[in-house]
Amino acid sequence: MPAIIVAYERRRGIGARGGLLYGPYEMATDKARFREISRQMGTLIIGRKSLIDEQISLDTRPFAKVEQVIVVTHQDALPVPGIEIAHSLAEAVEKSHSDPLIAGGASMYAQALDAEFPYPVDTVYATEIDADLPHDSEMRFPELPREEWIETEREYVPVGMLPNHARKQNVYPSYEVTYRRR
Ligand SMILES: NC(=O)c1ccc[n+]([C@@H]2O[C@H](COP(=O)([O-])OP(=O)(O)OC[C@H]3O[C@@H](n4cnc5c(N)ncnc54)[C@H](OP(=O)(O)O)[C@@H]3O)[C@@H](O)[C@H]2O)c1
Repeated sequence: MPAIIVAYERRRGIGARGGLLYGPYEMATDKARFREISRQMGTLIIGRKSLIDEQISLDTRPFAKVEQVIVVTHQDALPVPGIEIAHSLAEAVEKSHSDPLIAGGASMYAQALDAEFPYPVDTVYATEIDADLPHDSEMRFPELPREEWIETEREYVPVGMLPNHARKQNVYPSYEVTYRRR
């Protein structure tokens, strides 16, 4: 079954001005968790805007260790090497070699959590940033209804430098949370 990975701030905002919620070097633990979970799952599904607008190349670290990257788009080709294309989220799930990780953006989360979606998400890996960050109000991660979801893990990540990593830091406190479908 698919899983979702997402980072949101206190009001559940996920992106600002069409781009990332926080700067590239601001949340090292969240980045590391993204890399670890995506590598473990092996297949990552992402919306075209999140891939292209942020100019993420497959050579860059977030996707470096992921076996299969599937981009959802209406287009037939994209100028990014090493990706597969799907014309719907359901098609992307069907093309997945293993249970896929859906990595945003807002349109992917909304479709994946829609009650009509044929491949229900069973896990949400959320980084809950404990700060009010500027964000686009239409880009918010939906509340997970308590009757459908249970929190199974919650770990506090304080502000500060990462131990043993001289240049890696977290500038906002956060919680790494896992929600499972009941
Ligand atoms: N905080 C987080 O964890 C996180 C993670 C990822 C992204 N984000 C943020 O999310 C924002 C982007 O979200 P978004 O909703 O604007 O864009 P998106 O979901 O990344 O991509 C939207 C694009 O996906 C394609 N698409 C969507 N549904 C489709 C369907 N049913 N069939 C075919 N193609 C489909 C379309 O591509 P075409 O236009 O090419 O047809 C559409 O323009 C950014 O601010 C980004 O930083 C946040």
